[in-house]
Amino acid sequence: MIQIAVLGYGTVGSGVVEVIETNKTDINKKAAEDLSVKYILDLRDFPGDPYAHKVVHDYNVILNDPEVTVICETMGGTKPAYDFTKQALLQGKSVCTSNKELVAAHGPELIRIAKENHCNYLFEASVGGGIPIIRPLNYSLTAEKIDGITGILNGTTNYILTKMDKEGAGFEEVLKEAQEKGYAERNPEADVEGYDACRKIAILSSLMSGKNVRYEDIYTEGITKITAADFKYAKQMDKSIKLLAMSRDTEKGFFAMVAPFMISREHPLYSVNGVFNAVYVHGNMLGDSMYYGRGAGKLPTASAVVSDVVDCARHQGKTIMCFWDEENVDVTDLSSAERKFFVRVRDDQREAAMAAFGSLVEVNVGIVKEFAFMTQVMSEKEFNEKIEKAGGCLNRIRIMA
Ligand code: HSE
Repeated sequence: MIQIAVLGYGTVGSGVVEVIETNKTDINKKAAEDLSVKYILDLRDFPGDPYAHKVVHDYNVILNDPEVTVICETMGGTKPAYDFTKQALLQGKSVCTSNKELVAAHGPELIRIAKENHCNYLFEASVGGGIPIIRPLNYSLTAEKIDGITGILNGTTNYILTKMDKEGAGFEEVLKEAQEKGYAERNPEADVEGYDACRKIAILSSLMSGKNVRYEDIYTEGITKITAADFKYAKQMDKSIKLLAMSRDTEKGFFAMVAPFMISREHPLYSVNGVFNAVYVHGNMLGDSMYYGRGAGKLPTASAVVSDVVDCARHQGKTIMCFWDEENVDVTDLSSAERKFFVRVRDDQREAAMAAFGSLVEVNVGIVKEFAFMTQVMSEKEFNEKIEKAGGCLNRIRIMA
């Protein structure tokens, strides 16, 4: 019997309990042991809940119970999740988490502590919700040198951008609707400013490189400046706008960023719509592969947490290999990254823009008083110099090659 404690009885935590209960016959068979939730840690009580009798308020009850060997950390945030996780691992209790903030901030240290104590720190649910992506990177693609990852890693922003694209609606309007439907948080800053996607690409980039990619080193731009007009232009160019999180291991260095991009209809990520997520991985032998599914939500995310619990049951007393060293990757400044840009300037800047950029392709959707165009391929540095010469812009969106 594997005795489990669930930390945090919110959306994902209650989902973990539900997944274990609903699929217990299959899960127990696959784990070759019965899984049982012994404790649920939460500040609140849950009168009337079938698991109310398992709720405890003191973490020491869990820590001091030698029967508990696996902890599901579904609290979110780094405080007190970091201390709780560390204390558990130091006692040899494995921890399975959905907490991307904690994994991005302290992943390599917690992985090392788990290894030193012959247990596991597993985090399949921290990126892409229910989509298997950590396990493929860790085990399935071990024969590859992975040199590129591009992901749609945030369900809230993908929902907003999809609605703007399909319905011609404005950002604020769709955000309000997403909040009313419960997709977007009441404080949606982490999603719409790209911080959530940044934590997630930091985790994937670290697994790609085997070293630590600090989320603080990743250039991050959100979707708050994207307007209905931008989508009109995108449509004219047979493109859509997606918030992409990407990293590239190139001869020029290791690049990582989060920003809205225009992508063309032919790109597999073009059709990833609504709350769905996808991760597009390039390996030097396999080429491209894509992982797609529900990137958020109670049961998909809980399913990934429970898959980690099953892994812990199968590897008791052993640490599953994970290549994520504490040494930091030197993330290269974005200024040398090259691509095309879509740009909107005031109509009275037309001459200045043409003089600064030379060869450009005008995009016209009949919006008066502005001049919109696509540049040639150039570095970010070059672009910034040229747009400054042209007198600034109303908006600019990078174009995915
Ligand atoms: N706020 C996140 C999203 C939840 O919208 O994708 C899943 O990490």
